[in-house]
Amino acid sequence: MNIRKLIAGNWKMNGTVAVLSEIETIAAGTPDSVDVAICPPFTLIAPASGRGVPIGAQDCHSASTGAHTGCVSVAMLKEAGATLCIVGHSERRADNFETDSDVRAKAEAAQAGGLIAIVCVGETLKQRDAGEAISVVQGQLAGSLPENRDGLVVAYEPVWAIGTGRTPTTGDVADMHAAIRAVVGPAVRILYGGSVKPSNAAELLAVPNVDGALVGGASLTAADFLPIVAAAA
Ligand code: G3P
Repeated sequence: MNIRKLIAGNWKMNGTVAVLSEIETIAAGTPDSVDVAICPPFTLIAPASGRGVPIGAQDCHSASTGAHTGCVSVAMLKEAGATLCIVGHSERRADNFETDSDVRAKAEAAQAGGLIAIVCVGETLKQRDAGEAISVVQGQLAGSLPENRDGLVVAYEPVWAIGTGRTPTTGDVADMHAAIRAVVGPAVRILYGGSVKPSNAAELLAVPNVDGALVGGASLTAADFLPIVAAAA
């Protein structure tokens, strides 16, 4: 099945209103054959919207309203202009103790509210070294994925490759993405994330079952992000 590639940027806790013009530069430089998205911090979702690139959130709450200090609901994200939402990023699983079932509830809430859910999975270095990478990710998929696969996106992000400059071999990426494909079926986009940059994007995006990338550090400027988008064209 031929799936359009998606290159999504996760700005994490970076960015200010002053740098939002990068989004217009990304919009202008993106070929028609590739989908892009930028996921800035919550405070930048509204001012980032309407600049020619779909905007996503980095997290959401699974409840629609209520006493959840510091949290943001799907309806609030939509009202601010978001059309996508990352859930289950390893930094949230680690820093905020989010479990697979928390992640599934968030993905279901995102879908129910009309957002595209990007569900993140990935093993630690200890788990990879123990030969458990594929079984760990299969377990995360079993626990985190919503039943509804319409429009769903899965991002495979090995924890040890995030922000480290290290990446798995293309063979390891191929094996993992094939294992994920076997679970999610032919229509779900499977992104690779973890130290994707202009110099390795073409190689990673050419791996079978890699339908795009979730990019952290190299999504912060159009100068780094656009060559990655071009590699997906
Ligand atoms: O969600 C993207 C991310 O975790 C990868 O970050 O900086 O290694 O591209 P980075």
